[in-house]
This record gives sequence, structure tokens and C-alpha cells, in this order.
Amino acid sequence: MEVNSNSSISIRHLKKTFDGKDFVLNDLSLEIPRGKITVIIGYSGTGKSVLLKHILGLLKPSSGSIRVLGQELTELDVDDLTKLRNRFGMLFQYAALFDDMTAMENVMFPLKEHRRDLNKVQMQEIARARLTEAGLSDKHFLKLPAEMSGGMRKRVGLARALALDPEILVYDEPTTGLDPVLTEMVDNLIVSTHNLRQGTTSIVVSHDLYAAFRIGDYVAMLDNGRVLLHGTPQEFLESDIDLVKRFVAKGVRKELEPKASAPKPTSVE
Ligand SMILES: Nc1ncnc2c1ncn2[C@@H]1O[C@H](COP(=O)(O)OP(=O)(O)O)[C@@H](O)[C@H]1O
Ligand SMILES: [Mg+2]
Repeated sequence: MEVNSNSSISIRHLKKTFDGKDFVLNDLSLEIPRGKITVIIGYSGTGKSVLLKHILGLLKPSSGSIRVLGQELTELDVDDLTKLRNRFGMLFQYAALFDDMTAMENVMFPLKEHRRDLNKVQMQEIARARLTEAGLSDKHFLKLPAEMSGGMRKRVGLARALALDPEILVYDEPTTGLDPVLTEMVDNLIVSTHNLRQGTTSIVVSHDLYAAFRIGDYVAMLDNGRVLLHGTPQEFLESDIDLVKRFVAKGVRKELEPKASAPKPTSVE
């Protein structure tokens, strides 16, 4: 895909090395279209999370360019980066809710931080609307995370990710470690949230190729620090690339990453 104004995120020749020798990302280019769901897949350790952290401005590239919503990330100062990051909603594998806060308070947290223009009643109104949008019934709004099921906690995490009305929603392994029923619930939630929010760009890192095909408008497969294939699910099914063929053969309805390599909870949530 070429750079164009329909790109929400445009990554060109991105390189990242942590130790000055091995390149985790090695001349990676990727256009993420606005208003679509793009699923990033790849074997464990191929740099999917590192790529997401670059998109969020949490890691600096060794070289290359990242444009997000028209702004070159590498040229932004800390304040502008923070502003830009507030246009993202993030949901990671571990919802990382605040344990001592109710569902409502968890969703109000980003509002208190970044929407000082709102009064408490307005914040409560928004929190209720987001929790409802994420499918949590109002009888759970005042519960603490420990009093909720895993599925309910995911909904609260999503509601919190939606609090600031993000233009870009980012999910890193949102279903890793979940049972099949919950996995389907979260996948459906990603699609319904995307469809309800016109123009939202959704980026999902997934270990589950079946889900990638089901929910993704586009799929990008990383390998060796680059994008091996970026296309529609149909293009993946028809690909002649050996590694893609193997991944497709192995991946449908099967977990691709060994449990032991599941990422640790990340501090950026
Ligand atoms: N902060 C870091 N410092 C050094 N190496 C890192 C760091 N973050 C990730 N890596 C390395 O980068 C590679 C890709 O990691 P990651 O993006 O987490 O893979 P995954 O595709 O499973 O999400 C791994 O080899 C990992 O060890
Ligand atoms: Mg990861």
C-alpha cells in the first residue's frame, strides 16, 4: 500500500535496535488505513509489541519515520506526544484496572487526568455511557475489579480505553489467555465498538489467526523485523509465500504462541 491521506498511521523504513547489534524492527514500512480494523500477526518475539509502542510514541526509533494522524512522531516534544497519545485508546492483555477503584472510577480516571473542563456529574455521565457501550450492565458499575468476572473486567478496560473518545484504538493480545467463549466475546466487542464509532482506526495485535481473519479488514504479518505480507484475509489465504502458507495452515483455530512467552503486564496502560 502507498502513503496516502487515508492512512491513519504511516510507518516508513522503521528500524529499532536495543543493543546496537540486533534489529528487532528492520526497515519496516506499513500503512494503516483510517477507519478500518488492521490485525497485526506474527510469531512470538517478532516485534509486534515493540511496533505498537513505537506507534504510541513510547519507544523511539533507531531510524525511520512514523506519522500518526498527520504528525511526525520523532519531531514531537513530550507535551505534544502526550496530547497525541490521548487520541489513542489502549487495551492490553491484562486490563490492569485499578484494584481499589470501582468500574465507574476506573473509567473516570482518564477523564479526571485529561478533561479538567468537565465537572464530576459530566464525568459520571460519560463513564456510564462508556460502560454501557462496552456491554456492562449497570448493576456492576459500583463493583471493584475483584468482584467482577474476567469478561466484566475486559469490558471495564474497554470502557476506560474509550473514555477520551479515541480516534485510534489499540489492542495488544486482547484475548491471549482467555477461554474460547470469552475470546469470542472480546472479538465481537472489538468489531461492534469499531462499527459504532465511525471513522475509528482499530489496530489489534493477535496470536489468533482465525480471529484475525474474522475481525480484520486487513492483516499485516511481521517476520524478521519487516512486514512479510499486508493484505485482506482473502489475500492471506491465496498467498504463495511459504511462511504465510505455514502460518495459515497452522493458525486457523489454534493458538500460535506458546503460553510461556505471553507478554508480561505492561506499565504503559
Ligand atoms: N525494552 C526492550 N529492551 C530490549 N529488548 C526488547 C525490549 N522490548 C522488546 N525487546 C525484544 O524485542 C523482540 C520483540 O519483542 P516483542 O515486540 O515484545 O515481541 P512480540 O511480537 O511477541 O510482541 C524480543 O526479542 C524482545 O526480547
Ligand atoms: Mg507482544
